[in-house]
Amino acid sequence: MEEKKIMVELKHVDKFFGENHVVKDISLPVYQGEFLTILGSSGSGKTTTLRMIGGFDKPNGGEIFVAGYNVAHKEPFERDVNTVFQNYALFPHMTVAENIAYGLRMKHVPKQEIKKRVNEMLELVQLKDFGPRQISELSGGQKQRIAIARAVVNDPKVLLLDEPLGALDLKLRKQMQFELKCLQKKLGITFIYVTHDQEEALSMSDRIAIMHDGCLEQVGTPAEIYERPVSRFVADFIGESNVFAGKIKSLNQGFAEIATPFGTVQSIADKVRETEEVYVSIRPEKVSISSESQGTFSLKGRINEQIYRGATIRFVLSIPGMEKEFKADMPSNGLLFTTGDDVYIHWAPQDAFLIREKLIGDRDTDVVALQGEHTKAVFKELSIGEKSI
Ligand SMILES: Nc1ncnc2c1ncn2[C@@H]1O[C@H](COP(=O)(O)OP(=O)(O)O)[C@@H](O)[C@H]1O
Ligand SMILES: [Mg+2]
Repeated sequence: MEEKKIMVELKHVDKFFGENHVVKDISLPVYQGEFLTILGSSGSGKTTTLRMIGGFDKPNGGEIFVAGYNVAHKEPFERDVNTVFQNYALFPHMTVAENIAYGLRMKHVPKQEIKKRVNEMLELVQLKDFGPRQISELSGGQKQRIAIARAVVNDPKVLLLDEPLGALDLKLRKQMQFELKCLQKKLGITFIYVTHDQEEALSMSDRIAIMHDGCLEQVGTPAEIYERPVSRFVADFIGESNVFAGKIKSLNQGFAEIATPFGTVQSIADKVRETEEVYVSIRPEKVSISSESQGTFSLKGRINEQIYRGATIRFVLSIPGMEKEFKADMPSNGLLFTTGDDVYIHWAPQDAFLIREKLIGDRDTDVVALQGEHTKAVFKELSIGEKSI
């Protein structure tokens, strides 16, 4: 298999604002041509991380490599990286064409070439005849497209996007998600995309880096993150999950029996030992409820609430001994349960998985093993030198 080339690499990056430690020892490689999303709730440190990659903030510790060179303490213009901000940051006193041309003019690109590139960009973002317009004459979606055109016109190796669709309404946001993804594929530029919207992250990204309280919780493909969250936080943050504690009772051919205060349950077993204390995680859509015990195990519960959701019904259950309510989504056709019913709760063992909080540490070593020296060598080979400035 061909080796993936690292385009951006953070190594043990730390950032403080006064006493406030907002980015904590982050290490992360981003590959050439990749769409990587930093996903986290508000205040988790996403923007600060992006600003350090862009050069707008300087880290207090660690290194940031772009195309193999440590740029941690260089200025924004000293790296092949452009940024699209949430508020677009277009120049209001310039026309659309002048906005797009700005970066090229700064680089003293010949006038004819600028004109050609600007027209190409307008075509790329499907605003062909908009060159002479004033920025104030554009809708939100059009402004966003121009901001993107302005950011890609001088062929950056990396594009940073900070919640670029946050200001758009839902329908336009969905359309722009699709367009952005197509654009990224077409241009082959490495995208580092920041959002707090998990659906957006799952549908657009090659990989997602989940940020929580300044730390990277998990880095993986959307499927890995959804199907194998490594921490209770991720299991709950991405989609929904029923998570509860238990102790491994027995292991057999990749499956585990787990003892819990409400009975024995089963799940997939991965890297766990007998008697180990773990968390069991099962998604609501994987749970089934019935009036009789079924399969190799069942938990007893009572329906507290049912919420009609069209194709499915959400059942909120209580299980004796479980503090939190248990959630189950069942297809809405032909179900005859009502609030107050006593039911049996079951799932296929292959649909539940175990979380060992320690796993985060295991994964970190994979990321840290990718050395800066290594990326430098790869880029020397590609003869991508440090940008002349
Ligand atoms: N310039 C700044 N000065 C002081 N604190 C800041 C500054 N920028 C961000 N912070 C703080 O750093 C933390 C992370 O912020 P930020 O990176 O903007 O998070 P996010 O983008 O994930 O919402 C927050 O607690 C925020 O208040
Ligand atoms: Mg932010």
